[in-house]
Amino acid sequence: MPYHKILERQISKFSGGELFQAISTTYTHSDEDRALLERSLELSSKELEEVNKQLQSERDQIEIQVQQRTQELKAERNKISVTLAGIVDAVIVVDLNHNIIIFNKAAEKLTGFQLSEVLGKPINQIIKIFDKNTELPPSTFCPVSSDDFEGIVYSKEDLILTGLKGKQTYINLLASQIEEGRDVNLGCILTLYDISKEKQLEEMRLDFVSMAVHELRTPLTSIKGYLYIYLRDYKKALDSKQNSLLSRINISTQRLVSLVENLLNVTRIEKGTLTLNLQPIDWVQNINEVIAEIIDQAQDKNIELNFTEPTKPLSHILADKFRINEVLANLLANAVNYTRQEGKVTVWIEEKGSEVITHITDNGPGIPKEAIPHLFTKFFRVSGSLEQGSKGTGLGLYIAKSIVEIHKGKIWAESEFGKGSTFSFSLPIV
Ligand SMILES: Nc1ncnc2c1ncn2[C@@H]1O[C@H](COP(=O)(O)OP(=O)(O)O)[C@@H](O)[C@H]1O
Ligand SMILES: [Mg+2]
Repeated sequence: MPYHKILERQISKFSGGELFQAISTTYTHSDEDRALLERSLELSSKELEEVNKQLQSERDQIEIQVQQRTQELKAERNKISVTLAGIVDAVIVVDLNHNIIIFNKAAEKLTGFQLSEVLGKPINQIIKIFDKNTELPPSTFCPVSSDDFEGIVYSKEDLILTGLKGKQTYINLLASQIEEGRDVNLGCILTLYDISKEKQLEEMRLDFVSMAVHELRTPLTSIKGYLYIYLRDYKKALDSKQNSLLSRINISTQRLVSLVENLLNVTRIEKGTLTLNLQPIDWVQNINEVIAEIIDQAQDKNIELNFTEPTKPLSHILADKFRINEVLANLLANAVNYTRQEGKVTVWIEEKGSEVITHITDNGPGIPKEAIPHLFTKFFRVSGSLEQGSKGTGLGLYIAKSIVEIHKGKIWAESEFGKGSTFSFSLPIV
């Protein structure tokens, strides 16, 4: 190793004369080396001290800056944890491997677990999330995407959360991701909204409606029965005014009966107690049967009601005959009710993949574009429906949608305002 290299190393260890001594006793050297050595040693101990001081002051400054920054970061972190602790909704943050890294006070309350028990643990070891009866894996409710997407990655209402000792709570779940997630090992920020109170109120409301409707049904059935007997036995003995009054009573009673039946169906749907008795059905034959029940009503309005039977034999469908006929009957009744005199209603079906799709097309008034998204919601009626002569309840399509969906089918409407509408629904084949 050349001397100047050794010197450079030693300068950092020794000061002034000590260095010269150390070197001169250790090595024999050439003139050139000696000159270099002397030049190097011109750097007096004073100058070294000066440099040292400067270095020290710079180091102190850096130290202060680091302390300040650490303080700021601490304050920032405290701010976040204080904010998280104050939030009424449960917040759980997991890393890219779905291990819990943040668990706020509300999350402790919701799940029954303490922060210290859950930190660093895989989330699916701590809580379980169910959609109806299906458990959702973390990869579903917290999908960690490979890009730097920022925003909501999963959102679902009406889920069931199982916490400590199997404690269950109804929740709405929202999972979001931040852009820097990949860099800072942050998978998802989960926000869990406890909706058990709303659920409880909803259940009480449903119980009340269901009870009230059941109570209404009993006397109504009597009224309907006695009215039927009265009309059958005394119609001829009554004059036209009495007959007209009775016929109005009869129409109103029919409406009341169908309202009560519809409300009962709604409570069954919402309580989840509407069960299906699935069986293979010859769909073409079934449609003919339902059409036979409504044909008189169509003929009264001079409406041409046709069924375009498929040319090829169709697979049987898997459905609850009674329930699915309610759907069919309601769509046909709507088409007949809302189509003017001398209109035309056509039923046609097609088999597509593993489904049979049924369409009911009319050349009635059609439905305004802005009303279409609301058609299948409870109590919705297009304004002016009353003027079109139909005194419905606005529940028919909501019930139809629910029944079709529990059959794992879909229902939709297409319409051109002023020209007519087509209502369609799909059902799985056997
Ligand atoms: N074929 C149709 N043509 C025009 N409007 C329709 C048709 N079917 C349904 N609608 C509109 O949709 C609304 C909701 O239908 P529905 O849920 O069956 O309730 P209801 O028939 O008791 O009013 C109806 O009030 C009507 O305004
Ligand atoms: Mg209807």
